[in-house]
Amino acid sequence: MTTIAEKHLRSVIPKPRDSDEEDPKVELNEEGEVLNIEAVTERLATDLKLTEFALKDIGEGEGGEGGDRTDYDGDGMAKKYAEAKTHEWRSLLESYTFMNLAKGGKDGSLIGVNTIVDLACGEGHYTRSLRNAFPRATRVVGVDIAEEMIAMAKEKEKNKPIGVKYIVQDVKEEAGAKDEERFDLATAAWLLVYCKSVAELNEMCKAVANYVKPGGRFLTIITNPQMAFDSEGTPTTVLPGETQTNVLSRYAKYGFTVTVPSETPQEGDPFTWSIKTSKGPLVIVNYYLPRCAYKESLEKAGFEKIKFHPFELDPKSEGFGKNFAISPFSHLEDADSNDKKEFYQEFLDYPPALCIECWKSGGGK
Ligand SMILES: C[S@@+](CC[C@H](N)C(=O)[O-])C[C@H]1O[C@@H](n2cnc3c(N)ncnc32)[C@H](O)[C@@H]1O
Repeated sequence: MTTIAEKHLRSVIPKPRDSDEEDPKVELNEEGEVLNIEAVTERLATDLKLTEFALKDIGEGEGGEGGDRTDYDGDGMAKKYAEAKTHEWRSLLESYTFMNLAKGGKDGSLIGVNTIVDLACGEGHYTRSLRNAFPRATRVVGVDIAEEMIAMAKEKEKNKPIGVKYIVQDVKEEAGAKDEERFDLATAAWLLVYCKSVAELNEMCKAVANYVKPGGRFLTIITNPQMAFDSEGTPTTVLPGETQTNVLSRYAKYGFTVTVPSETPQEGDPFTWSIKTSKGPLVIVNYYLPRCAYKESLEKAGFEKIKFHPFELDPKSEGFGKNFAISPFSHLEDADSNDKKEFYQEFLDYPPALCIECWKSGGGK
């Protein structure tokens, strides 16, 4: 079987972007594998360094090799994931956007949220934020299939109790049978991205809907299916000279890369995230499904008013300070920038992830 690393090796040779740049000198073996690449310009050398970083991660990382489902019970995965959550973009863009939506908008908290379930809660990153954002909620529950993740979440709750219950459970297996057992707000950051087919997505959305009261709300984060392609399938985020099957090195300055499968991604093709951590790369494999599939599956499951929200930058953020994510990339000129807006502009222009917000029908709202 061809591994992801092998599949992409042939496609990541940096290409000249301008007519005055020469092709890099590439030495191949008889099987067509790359033995050596001599970059002829500084820019090609930089591209090469970034793609090497990504390939090394894909080859050596845990949990994502070969396109199998990412296993969060794997050795050290939970700790790596917790560290990956400390990257600056996670708070300034991801958490900022997700929690604003959870609270019902930038200007205030949502009235009538008494019960909250955080599905695929991991080590409880958002469960704790939700608990703190809704201090009057009567029930806050975190659910995850990975024992190691729930153990970390419980440990944090034990050290600093805030009133969250954590349960090891497959989202697809159990849900409230009656409306009073269901929740006003259900969240599931980065859960639907593990569905490899529309059929699996339908099943997952149906399971999620079982946790939500009629009129309740569901909020999730997905890998942006259009990260590399627009709705017509045209590559939009690929740098001039990169091939469509490339590692998207544009995100390397934020501490991660994403490898996209092909010019015309098919249902279930892997989108491979490689996130830098001090314990080695965290490799997470998500699967491509078109944006319309998310909308249709949620509708089928009984949700309505479905909205996609790209990440926004916290307007209060300024300067750099200590930034784990960019320090390994200090050779990049952007790393000297003290302007967050400028630094994150590429992230905002080409969002690698999106939030989805929707409401369970039948609440009379
Ligand atoms: C990328 S992590 C996200 C964790 C957390 N939501 C966050 O944003 O920090 C994905 C989590 O989904 C969990 N997961 C995947 N499939 C699941 C399922 N069927 N039921 C429950 N949890 C699941 C994994 O164990 C993992 O902890």
